[in-house]
Amino acid sequence: MSKERLKELRELLTRYNYEYHVLDKPTIPDSEYDQLFRELQDLEAKYPELDDPSSPTKKVGYEVLESFNKVVHDRPMLSLGNVFSYEELKDWARKIEEVFPKVEYCVEYKIDGLAMSLIYEDGLFRQAVTRGDGVEGEDVTSNVRTIKSIPLKIDYTQRYDIRGEVYMPKKAFERVNSQRRADGEEEFANPRNAAAGSIRQLDSRIAASRGLDGFWYHVPEDPNASNHYDSLMYARKLGFKVNDTIRLYDNIEDVWKRIEETAGIRHDLPYEIDGMVIKVNDYRQQETLGFTSRIPKWAIAYKFPAEEARTKVEDMFITVGRTGKCTPNARFEPVKVAGTTISYATLHNEDYIKEKDIRIGDTIIVRKAGDIIPEVVRAIRENRDGSQVPFEFPKFCPVCGGKLVRYEDEAAHFCINTDCEARLVFGIAHFASRDAMNIDGLGEKKVQAFFNEGILRSFEDIYTLFNKKDIILNIDKFGLKSYENLVEAIENSKKNSLERLLFGLGIRQVGEKAARILASSFRTMDGLMNASLEDLSAIKDIGPITAQGIVDFFKDENNQRIINELKLLGLNMEYIDNSVSSDNPFAGKTVVLTGTLSIYSRKEATELLENMGANVAGSVSKNTDYVIYGEAAGSKLTKANELGVKALSEEEFRNML
Ligand code: IVH
Repeated sequence: MSKERLKELRELLTRYNYEYHVLDKPTIPDSEYDQLFRELQDLEAKYPELDDPSSPTKKVGYEVLESFNKVVHDRPMLSLGNVFSYEELKDWARKIEEVFPKVEYCVEYKIDGLAMSLIYEDGLFRQAVTRGDGVEGEDVTSNVRTIKSIPLKIDYTQRYDIRGEVYMPKKAFERVNSQRRADGEEEFANPRNAAAGSIRQLDSRIAASRGLDGFWYHVPEDPNASNHYDSLMYARKLGFKVNDTIRLYDNIEDVWKRIEETAGIRHDLPYEIDGMVIKVNDYRQQETLGFTSRIPKWAIAYKFPAEEARTKVEDMFITVGRTGKCTPNARFEPVKVAGTTISYATLHNEDYIKEKDIRIGDTIIVRKAGDIIPEVVRAIRENRDGSQVPFEFPKFCPVCGGKLVRYEDEAAHFCINTDCEARLVFGIAHFASRDAMNIDGLGEKKVQAFFNEGILRSFEDIYTLFNKKDIILNIDKFGLKSYENLVEAIENSKKNSLERLLFGLGIRQVGEKAARILASSFRTMDGLMNASLEDLSAIKDIGPITAQGIVDFFKDENNQRIINELKLLGLNMEYIDNSVSSDNPFAGKTVVLTGTLSIYSRKEATELLENMGANVAGSVSKNTDYVIYGEAAGSKLTKANELGVKALSEEEFRNML
């Protein structure tokens, strides 16, 4: 019965997935989908023998690879020739029309992502391979499987090789980058790099979290059609996401009109396109025209000119982030590029400025990288008149005057003064931010205002702001209601689960995800503070650099003092597991603790178990379900072994949490 339900759920969820991600027409609310998805996950856990790589649950990512295997393509994956003007396009068409007076052109968006070949056998998704050098690519199946719109089953049993582009929608790109910013990681320069970087991840759960998508635009030598357009319509029927802006034209003038039209609307699309692709539709004509060694003669890419503008650098200045990282920026005369006005661009670091030789006063070309982030392309050296000044990277922090340090192997300079105003203000604002302690009403501007008044200089100060009513109410535009709301939000934040505090503290390398893993593994601040490098490295998903960062952070006496004060101020220092329900392994079980525990104290371990619904008993009997043992465990452990009671080391216990 439930096996049938399992099959039924797989089919249902596959259909809902298709309706949502391919047709863009969801037919059930998200909550219902989530509920069915969980039901399927539970059934799959119950019947592991029914494992199926094409189950919709596999879209969350489940494989972690050591490296990607190389795969030779059935047929080479070719690139396209480029044209950049109407003249060049007409030339290309003229040569074709000399051979065939009547030609039908299929016109498509040139999606800016990375080329991918998908292989299906016996109706099942088998492999996804990158283009590589065109002959041989890399097997990235485990990552591509997680793309929601890609069918894992098709109603076609012969081997099917469909090619297209994996891309990152603009919204996903912004989300991924803002997450990376919050985690102190380097941002992706554009959606194409972000897509490529995500596909190169060995852990498919990371790729799954990046919101990638795909458009499919080429089936080499498709036996199901006599022309390209029909072959794509066939692919669409099989469930592939084929871009619905594809159109046929019978003359190149109309093709050009279409290109011009698209140039005007391309910035409004939810994904990046960097041109249009024009293909001779008829397969027989394609065959006659053939290929050169590298590119088909029957297709061409028209590349949109990068939208660039010319302006003048007015100034260069440094911004200091919460980690102390110093980023140089250019301020220039405002110009309009790709639909919006821009006046600032990051210059990344000292090497970047030197390499591009950008000077204050230079005339520069700017554009929007991936149409989103302003970027300086180059300085026009011919325009120099001698008044331009090279930028001297400062030796001291522009905010606090502290010495700047550039570590070996790092391109960035850092202000290492932990009392630097910029570090404090941004650090406190980060602590209070939504994904950290979630104190509504304590954004950057407020933190700066309180800082200026001298009432907010540390995390601890947040929790004494309720004492500063008079000062706060004197600050411009700060009303009584805002003050009361703020005090309430601060009070509520004390009850947050441990991971929020860990993320808020701004430990190097510890982003939101690592904070969650640490909190759920160690459960208490003390447990984490006492963890050794080995304890930390033993945790899946915590790499050696992060582990070292954590050990260093907790070794620092000042950090110990801060945590102690926050504890005294009443902040919760424990992990609150919202997912605790009867499905944890200890719910309803009788557990005995024995020996000297080192990760947790007796009290902590007992609390953890009781919170999970376990009964913690003092002696071992045949009714005992688990014995958790530490150092120098004696008779209780022996008895457990005799009775066949499951014994868990403290470490195994932690891993089960
Ligand atoms: S057709 C044999 N169609 O652009 C024909 N390519 O610059 C193979 N691309 O390698 C390619 N959108 O990665 C084709 N609608 C589209 C495309 C497209 C983007 C990419 C593809 C190709 C590159 C060439």
